[in-house]
Amino acid sequence: MNEPIPSFTGFTAVVTGGGTGMGRELTRQLAAQGCHVAICDMSQEAMDETVQLARAGAPEGTRLTSFVTDVADPAAMAAFAEHVATEFGTASINLLFNNAGIGGGGSLVVGDQTEWDRVFGVCWGGVLNGTRSFLPMLQASERGHVVNTSSVNGLWACLGPTGAHTAYSAAKFAVRGFTEALMIDFRVNAPHLSASVVMPGHIGTLIARNSMLEFGRNPKDLSDEQVLEIRNLLQRRGVDTSGASDEDIRNLMALRVDMFENNAPTTAEQAARIILDGVRAGDWRILIGPDAEALDTMLRERPHDAYTEAFMAELAADGHFAGLIQS
Ligand SMILES: NC(=O)c1ccc[n+]([C@@H]2O[C@H](COP(=O)([O-])OP(=O)(O)OC[C@H]3O[C@@H](n4cnc5c(N)ncnc54)[C@H](O)[C@@H]3O)[C@@H](O)[C@H]2O)c1
Repeated sequence: MNEPIPSFTGFTAVVTGGGTGMGRELTRQLAAQGCHVAICDMSQEAMDETVQLARAGAPEGTRLTSFVTDVADPAAMAAFAEHVATEFGTASINLLFNNAGIGGGGSLVVGDQTEWDRVFGVCWGGVLNGTRSFLPMLQASERGHVVNTSSVNGLWACLGPTGAHTAYSAAKFAVRGFTEALMIDFRVNAPHLSASVVMPGHIGTLIARNSMLEFGRNPKDLSDEQVLEIRNLLQRRGVDTSGASDEDIRNLMALRVDMFENNAPTTAEQAARIILDGVRAGDWRILIGPDAEALDTMLRERPHDAYTEAFMAELAADGHFAGLIQS
């Protein structure tokens, strides 16, 4: 257990990926408790909306700022830290949420190397860059805490028996290992700091859509070449698409994105609440959702079965990761 943090009021927090999803909800809920929040994202438009929503629910005097940054770029993250110091007129922050992430980079064998490197660079590099850039400001605080978002894919490196998931899983395992090691590093070398790792199950956010757009794939407007790539991917997974038109494939992709956002057992609002409750209570390992809890239990009970079809079928039969586990 970490030392509990009874209240965030008057604290200063940094949230990466604050434009949509869990980052937006963390920002709103922190601001509502009178915590000053600085967010970064690739999209200024999305951040403007977050800031507007957060401001509407925040007590007077709560400060909010946004900064366009790519978390995968160490220099851009250092510039973000400078922005926070200047904008808030402070040399310290209390909370750092390394939350930004994207999916993709499924196969190392047949996938695009640039996409693989990008997913790893954002999901792992973003956490490292965020921690390095803000470490001096955390150290300068009286009490500081780092929250790194991993995933159930930091426990289980796949999305079903045929769903290659290498870049994202490698990055999320790295985030979990790094955060657990960082806790001890802090305990020894900076005892006023602590850390938590967050492992969400399926949360209803825009990540499926945002990740496709990151790689130039607009689900409703896929080029003929992109449709062919998806056909090939489905074929490698044993799905026969011969009876489906290109338009059917586009509609299927749009439907999947839509279902990811709308058919999840946990909303982004609930996920942010679970994260903040966990930090407040001093929990260093924060699982989110019934699917994450069930998977964690099954992995502990039967670690050697983790990648068998029977294990995955059992998860699916219990209603977990519905539509995400690719058979
Ligand atoms: N939604 C899920 O089911 C789920 C499950 C497990 C883990 N996660 C993790 O939770 C975190 C938040 O994801 P979410 O589901 O809220 O997704 P989201 O797409 O709704 O939000 C992520 C935000 O990060 C931003 N972002 C992406 N790349 C960036 C970059 N290079 N630099 C700066 N900002 C960037 C996006 O623009 C977006 O606003 C991610 O790390 C994700 O991997 C999500």
